[in-house]
Amino acid sequence: MKKLIYGNFKMNSTLLDIEKYTETFIPKVSLSKNEIAIFPPFTYLMFAKQKLTSSKILLGAQNVSSESKGAFTGEVSAQMLKSVGVDIVLIGHSERRKLFLEKNEIINKKIKEALSLGLKVVLCVGETKSERLNNRYTEVIQKEISEGLKGLYENELKNIIIAYEPIWSIGTGVVPEVKQIEEVVKIIKTEISNEYSLNASKNAKILYGGSVNAINAKSFASIPGIGGLLVGGASLNPEEFAKICNI
Ligand code: 13P
Repeated sequence: MKKLIYGNFKMNSTLLDIEKYTETFIPKVSLSKNEIAIFPPFTYLMFAKQKLTSSKILLGAQNVSSESKGAFTGEVSAQMLKSVGVDIVLIGHSERRKLFLEKNEIINKKIKEALSLGLKVVLCVGETKSERLNNRYTEVIQKEISEGLKGLYENELKNIIIAYEPIWSIGTGVVPEVKQIEEVVKIIKTEISNEYSLNASKNAKILYGGSVNAINAKSFASIPGIGGLLVGGASLNPEEFAKICNI
């Protein structure tokens, strides 16, 4: 079955890196049946779009403003992203939540803004190490979903993907056990079923992210209920990311 394989470059790469990356990466994944997307920094989106036009690879942005336009120095709106050919946007990544103090309320506004422009949204959720150790992960994830999706209609969920990224696994090489991911898939599906319907929960697209690499990618992508992967560090290497995309 087709998987969604998304690469978040975070704050890495120069323009020249993106040029070399796309030249290496695009031919290596041309036969992949999976849905592939790369999420370069804002500054390279237009350039990356030009490079990707000959491929089926989607273009993603790592963030979006919760406001639509006006005096918001340094912000980038959903309309701006749409106008340069962005297809998908990451919202609520744990680095945005932790380092830039984004709360569920603002994340909810960003989601509504992105959806109104026809962008697909990846809503990132996940618990810290201490929340995991103190058995608080269920309530954290439930809250991130219910407050993140507040006020959305069921028919809007088709454009929303939920990425489970346990914060303790991001960039650490420490990965959850399969049964821990299976449990979180259940938590996410139950929350969607409670907020919407059983049908919505069945159709929910859930990604796993956190220390994914070419060696462990297949085992994560094969977990029941996991529809794909959100890859950070390993997506910066076009050879390695291509291997992950070709699983
Ligand atoms: P790593 O794959 O580097 O752990 O990062 C995961 C991530 O944060 C993707 O959004």
